Amino acid sequence: MSDDLHESLRDNVRILGDSLGRTIADDLGEGFVDRIEAIRGYAKSGRQGDVQSSRELIEYLRKLPDRDLLPVTRAFNQFLNLANIAEQHYRARYRRVEDYRPGSQPMLGELLTRARQAGHAPRKLVESLANMRVELVLTAHPTEVIRRTLIQKYDAIDECLSTIESSSDYPERASRARGRLEELISQAWHTDEIRHERPTPVDEAKWGFAVIENSLWQAVPAFHRDLDTLLLETAGERLPLDAAPIVFASWMGGDRDGNPNVTSRVTREVLLLGRWMAADLYLRDLEQLKAELSMWKSNSALRAEVGGVAEPYRELLKRLVQRVEATRDWAKAELDGRSFEGGPIIENSDQLYAPLLTCYRSLCDVGLDTIANGALLDTLRRVAIFGVTLTKLDIRQEASRHALVMEELTGALELGHYRDWSEEQRQAFLLAELESRRPLIPRRWECSAETREVLDTFRVIASEQSEALGTYIISMAAQPSDVLTVALLMKEVGGQVSLPIAPLFETLDDLNRAGDVIDRLLALPGYRALAGMTQEVMIGYSDSAKDAGQLAAAWAQYRAQERLVEVCRAHGVSLTLFHGRGGAVGRGGGPAHAAILSQPPGSVNGSLRVTEQGEMIRFKFGQPDIALRSMEIYACAVLEATLLPPPSPEPHWREEMDRLAAIAHRGYVSVVRENPDFVPYFRAVTPEGALGRLPLGSRPTKRRQDGGVETLRAIPWIFAWTQIRLMLPAWLGSGEAFCTRLEEEGGLETLREMRDQWPFFGTYLDMLEMLLAKADVAIASYYERRLVDEPALKALGEDLRERFTRLNEVLLTILDQEELLEQTPLIRQAIAVRNPYIDPLHGLQAELLQRNRDADGAISGELTRALMVTMAGIAAGLRNTR
Ligand code: PGA
Repeated sequence: MSDDLHESLRDNVRILGDSLGRTIADDLGEGFVDRIEAIRGYAKSGRQGDVQSSRELIEYLRKLPDRDLLPVTRAFNQFLNLANIAEQHYRARYRRVEDYRPGSQPMLGELLTRARQAGHAPRKLVESLANMRVELVLTAHPTEVIRRTLIQKYDAIDECLSTIESSSDYPERASRARGRLEELISQAWHTDEIRHERPTPVDEAKWGFAVIENSLWQAVPAFHRDLDTLLLETAGERLPLDAAPIVFASWMGGDRDGNPNVTSRVTREVLLLGRWMAADLYLRDLEQLKAELSMWKSNSALRAEVGGVAEPYRELLKRLVQRVEATRDWAKAELDGRSFEGGPIIENSDQLYAPLLTCYRSLCDVGLDTIANGALLDTLRRVAIFGVTLTKLDIRQEASRHALVMEELTGALELGHYRDWSEEQRQAFLLAELESRRPLIPRRWECSAETREVLDTFRVIASEQSEALGTYIISMAAQPSDVLTVALLMKEVGGQVSLPIAPLFETLDDLNRAGDVIDRLLALPGYRALAGMTQEVMIGYSDSAKDAGQLAAAWAQYRAQERLVEVCRAHGVSLTLFHGRGGAVGRGGGPAHAAILSQPPGSVNGSLRVTEQGEMIRFKFGQPDIALRSMEIYACAVLEATLLPPPSPEPHWREEMDRLAAIAHRGYVSVVRENPDFVPYFRAVTPEGALGRLPLGSRPTKRRQDGGVETLRAIPWIFAWTQIRLMLPAWLGSGEAFCTRLEEEGGLETLREMRDQWPFFGTYLDMLEMLLAKADVAIASYYERRLVDEPALKALGEDLRERFTRLNEVLLTILDQEELLEQTPLIRQAIAVRNPYIDPLHGLQAELLQRNRDADGAISGELTRALMVTMAGIAAGLRNTR
C-alpha cells in the first residue's frame, strides 16, 4: 500500500479532529480545549516511553474537577468515533485494504480464474455460485455502543468526506461539504452518546430493517451485477435470474434466549413490520419501473394478461402497485390492531415475482434486453433475496424452557415427571407422541406464564407463512430429546413441523458430544420422517470459549464439525452448519474469509449460515459499498472452501492440537474455576458491575438475575475484560500450552509447520496476535492499583500479567517476529494512533469506578454518564467490544 493512501486517511482524521476541536471550543471555550490538549500531550509522550508524562497524565486526570469529567470523556470518545469514520471511509474507498495477513484479501475475479486453472469447468463455476446458499443472520446482540441517531450523522459525515475528495476541480462544492461537515460534527457533539433508555426488541428489529433499507437494498442488486459480469467473463454464462447465493435472516425480535422482553407478541409485531417495510420498499421500485417502462413492444404472454392497451408494462405494473399498496395498508392495519377492508394483498414472493418476470421475458422477447436487464432486473433480484418479508426470522429459545413445558405437561396429565426421566424414556415418550393422532396438550390447560409464553410462540409460528421464518434454534442443547421436544410442540400447536430445528451446542462437553447426539437423532426413524434429508446444527463460539478457554474451545468446535460432517454423510443427510460467531476474537470473531477457510474440509460445501452481530452489522453492512465488499468476501470464501477446500490436517497436527488444547484447558480452568480469588478479582478490577447499566440492547446481561459469573453472558464477560485491556478469556491457558511445546524437541518446528500449512491454526495465531496487540498489561495493572487492595488478589493479577507476558514472548518466537503485527502495519498504526486517546479514558474509567465504589454506587447522574461514556469510548477506540 502506498504512502499516499495512508496520507489520505491521515488527512481525513485531521479534518475531522480540527472540526471537533472548533466545536468544543465554541461550546466550552479555548481553556477547555487547552485542557484536552494537555491530556492528549501527556498521553502521547507517555506512549513514546516518557514515564514521567504517564504519571502526570494520571495526576492530571485525578485532579480534574467533577464538572469536567463528562465533557473530557465525551471529547475523547467523539474523537475516537471520528477516527473510526475516517478509517471506515478509507476501507470503503480502497477495496483491497489490508485487514489481515497481506495477500489474503480475496477478490472474486481472481478466485474464479484460479478455480478455472485448477481444472473446474466453466459450468461448474456457474452452478456453484447459483447453488450457493450463504445465509447471513443479523442479530440484536447488545454490542453496538453507538446510538442510531449518531450512526446517521456519521454516515452523513462519511458522505461529506467523499464529496470533498471528489471535488478537487470544484472548490465551491468542496467548501459546501466542509460546511456541512462542521454542522454534523456540531450536531454530534451536542447529542448524548448514551441512550437514556434501553431499546425494545422492536426498536432493534427496526434498526435491522434500516440496514436493509439504507444499504443492502442497493448492495444486493449491485453484487449480483458484479457476479453476472464476472461469470460472463470467466465462464461465458450468466447468473440465473433467481439465484440467491447470499440471503439474509434475522434474530431481531425472534431471539428469546434469556431475553424476557422478546415475547410472542413482539415476534408477531416484528413479522408484520417486515411485511410492511418490504411493501414500502417494493413500492418505491415499482413506481420507478412504472415511470420508466413506457414501451409498447411486448410479447403475447404480456398482452394476454393486460389486453390490447397502449402501454402494457405500465398496465401490469399498475395492477401490481395496487396489490403491494394493499399489502402495506394491511400490515399497517394489523400493526395498529384495526381490521383491513382493502383489496387482495401479496401473500408470497411468487405473487410479486411472476408479473415482474412476465415483463422481463416480454422485453427480452422483443429485443429490448438492455431495458430488461436494467432496473427491472434489480427488482427481480431483490424479490429473490428479500422475498416479501425482507428477512427470514429465526426463533431461539433455551432447551430448559422446553423441558419445563414438558415437565408441567406430564405433571398436569399425571404421566410422571419429565424432569426425572432418563434420556431414553424421554425419547420414547416424545416419539410416541409425535406419531400419535390425538393431541397431547389439553384444551383448557392452566399452565404457568412461562409455559404459556413458549406455547404462544409456537402459535405465532403456526400462523405464519413458511417464507417468513427461518430456523428454530435450541440454545444449550445437549440431547436428541431437546430437538424432539421442539418438534412435538410444533406439531401440537401448529400441525406439521415446518421450520428446520437446529440444536445449538455451546459448552465444551456439548461440542464434544454433538456428533453423537446428531447421530442418535438421525437414527430415529420417527425423527427422520419429520426432518427429511437436511439437518442444521449451530455451533456456539463464545459460550464454549467462556466455558473452556479459547484454544480448547476452538479445537472442540473444529472436531465437532468434522464429526458432524461424517455423521450426516453416513445418514445421507445434507448438513448446514450455522456458526454463532461474535465480532470479538474472544467470541469467535475475525475476518470472514479466514474464518470460513479455516473450517474443516467438507464442512462448508456450498451452504453456510453465520451470525452477524451488533456493531459488526454496521462495520460490514452499514453502507452499500462496504456491504458489497462483504458479500464478495463471503461468496469468495464459500466458493473457495467448496471448490478448493483446505487440506485435511495431518495426524501429527491433530495430536499436537489435542495436547495443546488439553494444557490450555487445564490452565484456563485452574484460574477461572478453581482459584477462589478469581471471581472477586474479576469483580474488583473490571467494570462488570457497572456494565449492566449501559443500555446497549434489550436483553439483560445475565441469563438469571440471581446467578454469579456463570450466568453472566459471554458478551459482558468479554466486554469487561476488554475494558481493562487484559482480554483474558481469549488467551488464558494458551501461553502454558505453547511454552510446554517449545521446551520440547521439535515443538517449534511442528507449530510453525501447522501455522504455514493449516489455515485453522494459522488463523488462530493471527487472531491471537491481533488480540495481544490490542491488550495492554500496563493499563490492566493501573486498574488493579486503583481498584484492588487485598494482597491475594494483587498476587493473582501479577500472575495473570506474567502469563500474558510469557505468551507474548512465545507467540513472537512461533511467528518469528520482533514485534506483533509486523505483517499488518495498517492495523498496528491504527492502534498506535488511537492509544493516546484511549489512555485518558482508561484513566478516567478507573477513577470513576473508584469514586463509584467509595459512594456505594451512588455517584451523581452526570458521573454515571461519564463512566458509561468511558466504556463506549474504549469500545469504539478498540473498534469493537472485543
Ligand atoms: P449468546 O451470544 O449469549 O446470545 O449465545 C454470545 C455472543 O455472541 O458472544
